[in-house]
Amino acid sequence: MNKIPQVLSSLLIVCLFQQLTAQQQFNNTEMKIDSLLSEMTLAEKIGQMTLCQSPESQNADAIETAIRLGEAGALLNETNPDRIRHYQQIAVNESRLGIPLLFGRDIIHGFKTVFPINIGLAASFNPTLAEETARIAALEATSVGVNWNFAPMVDISRDPRWGRMAEGFGEDTYLTTTLALSMLKGFQGESLSSPNSLAACAKHFAAYGAAEGGRDYNTTDVSEVELWNTYFPPFKALAEAGIATFMTGFNDLNGIPASGNSFLFQEVLKEKWNYNGFVVSDWASITEMITHGFAADDKDAALKAVNAGVDMEMATKAYAKHLKELLNQGKLDESQLDDAVKRILRVKFKLGLFERPFVDSSQIIQTPPQQHLLLAQKAAEQSMVLLKNKGQLLPLDSTTKRQIAVIGPMANDRYEQLGTWIFDGDTNLSITPLTAFREKYGNANIRYAKGLSNTRSNDTSAFSRAINQAKKVDIIFFFAGEESILTGEAHSRAFLDLPGAQSQLFQKLRQLGKPLVLVVMTSRPLAIGDIIDQADAVIYAWHPGTMAGPALANIVSGAVVPSAKLPVTFPKTAGQIPVYYNHKMTGRPPSAESFIPMEEIPARSFQTSLGNTSHYMDIGFEPLFPFGYGLSYSSFEYKNIQLSVTEISKSDSLEISFTLRNTGDYAATEIAQLYVRDLVASITRPVKELKGFQRITLNPGESREIIFMLKANDLGFYDKDGNYQTEAGKFLVGVGGNSAINLSLQFLLK
Ligand code: GLC
Repeated sequence: MNKIPQVLSSLLIVCLFQQLTAQQQFNNTEMKIDSLLSEMTLAEKIGQMTLCQSPESQNADAIETAIRLGEAGALLNETNPDRIRHYQQIAVNESRLGIPLLFGRDIIHGFKTVFPINIGLAASFNPTLAEETARIAALEATSVGVNWNFAPMVDISRDPRWGRMAEGFGEDTYLTTTLALSMLKGFQGESLSSPNSLAACAKHFAAYGAAEGGRDYNTTDVSEVELWNTYFPPFKALAEAGIATFMTGFNDLNGIPASGNSFLFQEVLKEKWNYNGFVVSDWASITEMITHGFAADDKDAALKAVNAGVDMEMATKAYAKHLKELLNQGKLDESQLDDAVKRILRVKFKLGLFERPFVDSSQIIQTPPQQHLLLAQKAAEQSMVLLKNKGQLLPLDSTTKRQIAVIGPMANDRYEQLGTWIFDGDTNLSITPLTAFREKYGNANIRYAKGLSNTRSNDTSAFSRAINQAKKVDIIFFFAGEESILTGEAHSRAFLDLPGAQSQLFQKLRQLGKPLVLVVMTSRPLAIGDIIDQADAVIYAWHPGTMAGPALANIVSGAVVPSAKLPVTFPKTAGQIPVYYNHKMTGRPPSAESFIPMEEIPARSFQTSLGNTSHYMDIGFEPLFPFGYGLSYSSFEYKNIQLSVTEISKSDSLEISFTLRNTGDYAATEIAQLYVRDLVASITRPVKELKGFQRITLNPGESREIIFMLKANDLGFYDKDGNYQTEAGKFLVGVGGNSAINLSLQFLLK
């Protein structure tokens, strides 16, 4: 008998069995949930909907009492394993129904081992790496008993003034979605019930990153088309991939605060996307609806939040205080609370907390093992973007006898190199650039001066020592940027320059006329084109995390060749914001031909003589650096770009092939990017959209044929009602090393 049908039939049986098992498991869990729910009092149901603040900031007795009475479903910001065990024991052994607690924490880019801040990790364009970092974070956090992570943050942001651009994966929906799914796999593992799996949280739903003026918590006014095509896709992908929870944004979206927005959480998330996890508010975001002027008081805020589909309240007590009264007044139905509680219990059952509420204290990771640190170093190496390298100044071979100056406030700071959202980062593990440069190049060859006490300082009294050190060397490395506290939540800036007197210090160093390398450590693009123009080489290192030093030393010495690419467009000035690569064409697109620099405009020019196109007279229209940009120590050539066909139907795929050649002298990795443009559609479409990327490593002189597959369905878009459609018509397509490429080939979607 032919083996193939036999194999196929057994595979089919296995798949069917797996599906049946999964369905049975689901049904069993649902039965347990329903059974438990039927025993719960109203107070216990409302308790499950209450996420209490960290006990340190509260009276611990009050927390214990609340847990014992079943009035707390979860705690946040508790990471002491003994206290976690203590509170869990009260919940499991002393409360009436023994429902275990969730312990939530913000583990954005690592727990004890800190990985590059996510905007930096995004520059790696490496989903596997992203997943690995999330997996390590989950191992370290679950070992102490944390079982819920308020991550990944997947807010698309096109405004570097916004401090929280740091936490996301940049401006592009495709890249953000790809990396978010990888982080989810890392956090939640193969199964949520595994002891080292973290329940993850998609945040902040939705469009929180579209804050007007880049000012955190500010109003967001976003069209439905933009919501569906730009801001929603990462959340939709996470919902469909089984992320355990969602979190509301602080923002008022089109006049309705997210925490009271039933369009977001009822219509879109729970109905259209059929989501069965639970929604937690952001910190006090429910009662902030009073401040928004959307709720009259706590009670009204609680009513609006429950009706909007917010299942759990973080940090405040509007639910605890008012839900019972709202029910008694008939303003809420108990079925609404039952739905919320079932969602919360479902996550607790999936986590296996009823079977295994306690972690094995012998498994606590007190000090991360070397492989965690090595991954942090690899992640940092793959996130650092080489923006400039005049005359191939870099790499600087580790055997060099040249004297090196390491100058600047970010050169030797174990804490500041970690970036924002590092509650649990262990600074004892940090290795700074100074330490690593001394290791790499030999102590005798390194001269150090901080120059400024911190990145905001305007005290130039230490400049002379820095200049004196720099006078004695052959090459200067200036480590500048923003301290951790200048990025992240509530830390927006109107200017995007180097804070404090860093620019002045740079100029003093520049005046010495020696080779000058600028290393920027921050978590947002800075509009420092004038400084970059004067530097000989520039490495944008972001906040690289624990292993900043060894990673930079490897990049600078050429032990690792830089491969990273910008996940966000760099503006020339804050006045250019918003500036992003996948903008619309407009009816009057700018062009180099039409742009006359303001200082060259002839006096009394006739009004229409300047070319009526969409540009700025003072800075033109090009960004400082485009999305996807990044240099290598080598160089790459894209040739023979071809399409498998020039026409495809809506059920087809298109193959884009090209030859990539390493035309330089170093083995190196290129992040090849695939962009498309929909030339004519029922709504205006972006001038180009990233639809694929590949990391390709080639030896010097080596060529390889690379293929991208593009499914017709990938060419679609959402209409204002959230209906996804692909429309027949002409498309342009192109591949290259950044988003500034021309899309040279055309095909027809029939
Ligand atoms: C913060 C943040 C949110 C975080 C939460 C708990 O205000 O907006 O991202 O998860 O509070 O720390």
